[in-house]
Amino acid sequence: MGSQVKSKRRVADHGEVLTGEREVNAMLDLVKAETERIDSRFLEPACGTGNFLAEILARKLRVVEERYRKSQLDYERYAVLAVSSIYGIDILEDNVKECRQRLYGIFDAAYTRLFQAQAQDRCRAAVRTILQRNIIHGDALSLKTVGEDPQPIVFSEWSLVSGSMIKRRDFTFHSLLNHAAMGELPLFSDLGEDVFIPKPEREYPEVRPSGWTGGI
Ligand SMILES: C[S@@+](CC[C@H](N)C(=O)[O-])C[C@H]1O[C@@H](n2cnc3c(N)ncnc32)[C@H](O)[C@@H]1O
Repeated sequence: MGSQVKSKRRVADHGEVLTGEREVNAMLDLVKAETERIDSRFLEPACGTGNFLAEILARKLRVVEERYRKSQLDYERYAVLAVSSIYGIDILEDNVKECRQRLYGIFDAAYTRLFQAQAQDRCRAAVRTILQRNIIHGDALSLKTVGEDPQPIVFSEWSLVSGSMIKRRDFTFHSLLNHAAMGELPLFSDLGEDVFIPKPEREYPEVRPSGWTGGI
């Protein structure tokens, strides 16, 4: 059995067949410019171990490195932003853990290679915290988390404010999807028409990435 299949049981129960690297790259090349835009948001609702998300993060971090490697502070800011723009859901907990770990490993390898002893554990902790929230153990059909007490899936939107602060706003998956089902305004438009602006469930005060020690 190839590495795209972990077991026959998992294929039968969850349709788990992971996408190969060549196909991942060919598909991502269809939206190449978006994969290389540091803050473009990607959500994969059945992300598996993150074959697509890992390649998206690697592409974004290459851009961050090209542009900001000379300033550690800028690199941290934009690398955190790149990580924070990537979202995934999977119904299998081991996949979710592997996906988070894999994305963290891609960030940490690049960060440590560039800044070595100057690399900050606080920045690493911020990235781990974001991945904990963005890669969700959930059911993309029921739109709820998986576990003893399933709750509506909530996504955190992270944005850079005034260059050095990060703001978090939370949205339910349901509210983001609902407007589309009702055929309402588009989420995005380059044509200057009105777009749908979802209401956050919750907003948090702005924080500085290097000051993140938890509580996000
Ligand atoms: C065909 S695999 C694809 C994985 C990944 N997207 C890739 O291309 O490598 C499908 C994935 O969907 C997950 N899955 C199945 N049903 C799901 C559901 N209702 N909600 C979220 N994930 C689900 C499985 O656990 C599996 O990891």
